[in-house]
Amino acid sequence: MVYENIVLIGFMGCGKTSVGKILARQLSKDFKDVDDIIEKEQNSSITEIFEDKGEEYFRELEQKCINELAEKKGQVISTGGGLPIYSKIPEKSLVIYIETAFHVILNRLSKKERDKRPLFYDESRAKALFDERIHIYKEQADFCVDADQSIQLINHVLVDYILDQRVL
Ligand code: S3P
Repeated sequence: MVYENIVLIGFMGCGKTSVGKILARQLSKDFKDVDDIIEKEQNSSITEIFEDKGEEYFRELEQKCINELAEKKGQVISTGGGLPIYSKIPEKSLVIYIETAFHVILNRLSKKERDKRPLFYDESRAKALFDERIHIYKEQADFCVDADQSIQLINHVLVDYILDQRVL
């Protein structure tokens, strides 16, 4: 299989955006963040979209956004944590799961970061969501990287793996 884009998936706060930016730079690819694109297009924050239009509407925006991104090649795409649950990831994507333990995510996400994520307001609900979703992330992934380690190590593992694949 020749992959056209690299798609990073994983739970909220696992580091998809930070990993993706470095990875894109190392591989000389464009970096795209689905949540950022949606916020810019809608001129609203994710929280406002959830509050004003509802989660279902947000999920439709995610599917539309990833479909549009897939019209181009050679990108590293960071997705929101719910995208692989509710949307179909376009074929010819090399899907990488950034795997992190829930307690690591809790330590990483500041109050400000949690407040930007409507599905993280309630910690026990977020944990239940995490437990529900991890097997779906694993099923969808071509490759999993243990992200409970330094960002340098994560990127090292990923670059090694990706350079062995046929990615445009
Ligand atoms: C969500 C994850 C968020 C954002 C939205 C919903 C989810 O993105 O898309 O708040 O359902 O897991 P991050 O994974 O970047 O936090």
